[in-house]
Amino acid sequence: MRSHYNGDLLSAEAGVSVTVAGWVHRRRDLGGLIFLQLRDRTGIVQVVIEPDQPELFAQAETLRNEFVVSMTGTVRNRPENMINKDMETGTIEILASELSVLNKSAPPAILIDGHEEVSEELRLKYRYLDLRRPEMQERLLFRNNVAKKLRDFLEAEHFVDIETPILTKATPEGARDYLVPSRTNKGSFFALPQSPQLFKQLLMMSGFDRYYQVVRCFRDEDLRADRQPEFTQLDIETSFMDEEAIMGMMEKMIRQLFKQTLDVDLGEFPRMPYAEAMQRYGSDKPDLRVSIELFDVADLVKDVEFKVFSGPANDEKGRVATICVPGGAALSRKQIDQYGEYAGRYGAKGLAWIKIKQTGKGVEGVQSPVAKFLNDEIVDSIIDRTNAQEGDILLFGADSNKVVTDALGALRLKVAQDLDLVEKSWKPLWVVDFPMFEEDKGQMHALHHPFTAPQENDVEKLKAAPTETLSRAYDMVLNGCEVGGGSVRIHNQDVQAAIFDILGIESQEAEDKFGFLLEALKYGCPPHGGIAFGLDRLVMLMVGADSIRDVIAFPKTTTASCPLTSAPSKVSAAQLEELAIATIKKQQAKED
Ligand code: AMO
Ligand code: AMP
Repeated sequence: MRSHYNGDLLSAEAGVSVTVAGWVHRRRDLGGLIFLQLRDRTGIVQVVIEPDQPELFAQAETLRNEFVVSMTGTVRNRPENMINKDMETGTIEILASELSVLNKSAPPAILIDGHEEVSEELRLKYRYLDLRRPEMQERLLFRNNVAKKLRDFLEAEHFVDIETPILTKATPEGARDYLVPSRTNKGSFFALPQSPQLFKQLLMMSGFDRYYQVVRCFRDEDLRADRQPEFTQLDIETSFMDEEAIMGMMEKMIRQLFKQTLDVDLGEFPRMPYAEAMQRYGSDKPDLRVSIELFDVADLVKDVEFKVFSGPANDEKGRVATICVPGGAALSRKQIDQYGEYAGRYGAKGLAWIKIKQTGKGVEGVQSPVAKFLNDEIVDSIIDRTNAQEGDILLFGADSNKVVTDALGALRLKVAQDLDLVEKSWKPLWVVDFPMFEEDKGQMHALHHPFTAPQENDVEKLKAAPTETLSRAYDMVLNGCEVGGGSVRIHNQDVQAAIFDILGIESQEAEDKFGFLLEALKYGCPPHGGIAFGLDRLVMLMVGADSIRDVIAFPKTTTASCPLTSAPSKVSAAQLEELAIATIKKQQAKED
C-alpha cells in the first residue's frame, strides 16, 4: 500500500515510481489540474492529477478533506518558479497515475489545516482529529524521541528498567489518592501510586543498584497548566551514590538530552540553597530568565511612622521587601492597581510603590504615595540597595514573610512577562538545602516526602530542632518550572522511625502504612537515593507548549475528566453491589 513516507520522497530520484498513503489535507482544482496535498505523519506532499487521464481525474474530483487514500505516481522536480519553500517536500511533486480511496471521511469537526482558534474542550472531545494536526504530531514524535534519548543514556549507565505495581498502597507525595475498590476484599481499597517511591527503594534493598522506569503516576490534586491527575515520571533510584554523584549524573543526562534533541548547550547548572531562592526570588523554583530580584528593606523602614511598613519590619515573622521593575515608572495608576490586585491573590493587602524620577535626590527625586512617610536618607538607601535607575518603579510588600515572599515572587514573573523582560534562553539550576519540615498550625509536614534523609543524623538533635534541620533533597528547575525532584533516602531504621515520630505518624499508623518498609530497612539496606523527572513538563518546556496537556496524547481537562470518553462515568448498581459500595446522594453528603 506504500513504498515511501512523504518525508522520504526527497531522497527518491526524479522519475521513480512511488506509492504514498495518507489523508487528503487539501484539494485545489486549478485550470483543469487537480492539486492534492497528501499528509502522513512525516509531512505533506503535493500530488498533481492531470486531465489526460479522465477516469483518474473524475475519481480525484470526488475527494474531500480527510479521505484516506493511497496514490501511485512518479516523482518529479518542480519547475523553479513553483518551488514552495514553506513545505519540506516543496521542491518536488508526484504526478499521479493511480488512486485508491481507502476510506471516506465525514467533514471533520476540527479543521486539521486551519489556524483558527478551537476551544480546548472541542479539541479534547475530538482528540483523534486534533492529534492529526502537524503541530501535535510533531510534539508527540518529539516526546517519543526525548524518552528514547533518556532511556539510551540510562541503559548506557547500567540502569535497569523494572515495572512496579499500579494497584498498590498509598504513597505519600502530598496529594490525595485515587482509590480502587477491591472485590475480593470487600471494604478494602487499593491506591493508585502517586509515585513508585517505596517500591524503588525496596528494589535498592533487593540489590538492583540502578533502577529506572518511565511510569504513570496518579495524584488527585487541583489541576493547573503543569499538572495532570495522571502524568508520567522518569523515575530513577541508585545505590551507593551520594547527592553529588546523583546530581552530577542527572545533570549530564539532561545536558546531553538538550544537546542531542535541540542542539542547546545548557552549561553547568548552578546550585542555590532553598533559603536564598525564597529570599531573592520569592520561589523555590526561581525563573532565572527574569533578572528582577526581591530586596529586603525591613532594616531601613523599621522606624518609620508608616505602620504598614514598620509593623512587619519589627515582627520576627514579618517581611518588608521590594522589587525594582526596569522602566516601570511608565506604568499607569490603573496598571499599578491591577498589579496590586494580582498581589492580593497571594494575600497582599496593598502594593506601595515608588517611581524613580531622579536618583540621589532623596524624596524629591521620587513620586510615591508613601514618600511622605519616608525621608531622604531612607529613599536614597532603598535606591542604593536595589540599584534602581531613573525611570524604574519599586513595588513593595509588607506583611508576613510568607505573604510577601509569595506575592512578590509571583509579581516579578507577571510584570516581567507583561513588560517583555523574560530573557529568551534556558536557565537550569539545582535548588538544594531544603528544610526537612514545614510547620502548619503545630503540625509538621515533610517538604519532600518522609523517606528523605536529613542532613542531621543524630536522632536527639533532630527531634530537638526539627524545623531547623535541612534535608538531602534537590530539585532540578528549568525556566521557573520544577522538572525533577529527589533526595538521598533514609537507610537507617531509627532515623526513619524518628522522622515518622516528628511528622506525628504514630507508631501503629507507621506500622500499618509503612511497616513493610521499616521491616525491610532491617535487612541490609544500602545507602541509596534517586530522583523523578516530570516527563510531561520537560517535554512541554522543550517544545515551547503552554500546558502539559499539549504534550500528552489523551489528557484530562482541568476538572479531571475526559471529554472524549466521558470518563469518569456512572457505573451500574450491580457493579457497585459486587464491590459492596454504596454511594451517598448529594444532599445527604452535604448534610454529613
Ligand atoms: P515529586 O513529587 O517532586 O517527587 O515528583 C517528581 C516530578 O514529577 C512532576 N510532577 C507532575 N507532573 C505533572 N502533573 C503532576 N500532577 C505532577 N506532580 C509532580 C514534577 C516533579 O518534579 N518520589 C519522588 C521523587 C523522588 O524522590 O525520587 C516524587 O514523586 O516535574
Ligand atoms: P494606605 O495608607 O493604606 O492608603 O496605603 C498607602 C500605600 O501603601 C498604598 O499604595 C497601598 O497600596 C500600600 N499598602 C498598604 N498595605 C500594604 C502592604 N501590606 N504591603 C505593601 N503595601 C501596602
